[in-house]
Amino acid sequence: MDNALYIVWDEDEATGIPVIDEQYRSMVSMINTLYYFIGQDRGDEFLKPVMKMVEQFALLHFATQEEMMLQTGYEQLDEHRKMHQTLLENARQILYEQATPEGAIRALRFLSQWWRKHMNGEDKKFVEHCRKHGEFINAWNAV
Ligand SMILES: [Fe+2]
Repeated sequence: MDNALYIVWDEDEATGIPVIDEQYRSMVSMINTLYYFIGQDRGDEFLKPVMKMVEQFALLHFATQEEMMLQTGYEQLDEHRKMHQTLLENARQILYEQATPEGAIRALRFLSQWWRKHMNGEDKKFVEHCRKHGEFINAWNAV
């Protein structure tokens, strides 16, 4: 393993909603950080904090999306929330029950699949909905 990235952020995947795009980029960065540490054979003292950060960041990301859905009257909110809960349960199981280098590789695969499927799939529907609420979304862009 060299210093290559595990996932490359592609600006074509940007939603145009700054808060969401920033969170996506951060998640890509964390996945790549995990990849670097695995490649350097780093132990638990490096892997565990990154995994904890991934978990906490996922919570933040889901909460952000769900609040936006609630405030814009997104009809698939309950369905989407259930997907988030399932993702979080699966992520926690992988991140904490397998906090070993092998487990970290499994976590890496899970996270990248999550990125590809959920963020490029279900989240795209939500983004389409957000575009119909431009004024509201703009209020989220900066303090
Ligand atoms: Fe989502």
